[in-house]
Amino acid sequence: MKITAIRADGFRNLKNVDIALHPKLNILCGSNAQGKTNLLEALWLCTGERSFRGAKDRELIAADGKKLCISAEFEDNRRVQVIEYSFSRSDMRNKKLTLNGVPLKTPSELFGKLRCVIFTPEDLSLSKGSPDNRRSFADQSVSQLKLSYRNVVDKYKRILEQRNLQLKLIASGRSDDSMLDIWDTQLSQMGAYITMLRYNYCKKLNTAAAALYDEISSGSEKLEIVYSSTVYKKLDELDGRTDYKGELSEEYFKKLKESRSDDIRAGFTIHGIHRDDLLCSINGMSAKEYASQGQHRSIALIMKLSQAYILGEEMSDPPCILLDDVLSELDPARQSFVMNKIKGMQVIITCCDSSALTYTEGKLFEVSAGSFT
Ligand SMILES: Nc1ncnc2c1ncn2[C@@H]1O[C@H](COP(=O)(O)OP(=O)(O)O)[C@@H](O)[C@H]1O
Ligand SMILES: [Mg+2]
Repeated sequence: MKITAIRADGFRNLKNVDIALHPKLNILCGSNAQGKTNLLEALWLCTGERSFRGAKDRELIAADGKKLCISAEFEDNRRVQVIEYSFSRSDMRNKKLTLNGVPLKTPSELFGKLRCVIFTPEDLSLSKGSPDNRRSFADQSVSQLKLSYRNVVDKYKRILEQRNLQLKLIASGRSDDSMLDIWDTQLSQMGAYITMLRYNYCKKLNTAAAALYDEISSGSEKLEIVYSSTVYKKLDELDGRTDYKGELSEEYFKKLKESRSDDIRAGFTIHGIHRDDLLCSINGMSAKEYASQGQHRSIALIMKLSQAYILGEEMSDPPCILLDDVLSELDPARQSFVMNKIKGMQVIITCCDSSALTYTEGKLFEVSAGSFT
């Protein structure tokens, strides 16, 4: 996957940006608050995902502007494609999206077209921080490979909200549990499906990550990443299964039913994919409890690198790597490890000081007040 050109205008502080990228290395360099991350965020929207900063649509349009326009031109191993993305302040829900000139209805139709993997400084706490981040990581990884997956996760979340609301109504005596069976049947089918896909992804992740960790620790430490389910006791039994509509969803349903009275007391759903986690361990010791700051960083880096490798392998085409201010957060050894591992992929790096980077070919863009030269 090579991005050949990016255009952006009216997106946050970006003004008339129109740049042609180098097929390998691109460095966006400038002082703070000039628009480097904004450009990556604009590009990221073209992958069909929401802003990695969790921004709302209205925050994305320039404060003094009416409309934002982004376009990305890229080629995979088959052809050149163009994504155009725009919307205006007066009608933000009505997004104008096209792929090669053909209009699309929703951003999710862009999934799988422009494939990027983004590293931000926040990702460095992937293994240390809350399980929510690791679930999002797993969901993002799976949805890059299975394009319909995101819709199932979104629908699961909507139904879960309704169930939780119902639990509170029951607890306060304003409703009975007659509706719960309906929610639970739906949650079970989707939950079984999501567990199965996350579990299978985790197995691939574990293989890729263990090999990389072996390298970064010079063979002295063994990393293991396993999926941890709050519903299924014996995850090995998920191996090779595809019957998520059958027994797997019945088992999920049973778990929800069993914990129903606890759920009503708690006011939320205690078991389910929204409470699962990815457990990392080094030499058999749980990373959450025992890993040092440096080990956490290595695990996080390696999870993201593995995400890029797995995506590249499954699509027979490596993704484009976006490194937002990450290198400056790493010591020289980890910096060169990352740079070595992404050799051969197209990379866009943002930084405040490019003198620390060694490179022989690539393009350097100076970023100032939303303009790129
Ligand atoms: N909606 C907006 N309209 C205008 N400017 C914005 C908007 N959102 C953010 N900015 C500006 O963008 C700049 C931050 O850009 P960013 O890309 O995060 O900087 P950096 O180069 O440090 O990565 C700030 O100057 C901020 O005021
Ligand atoms: Mg930034």
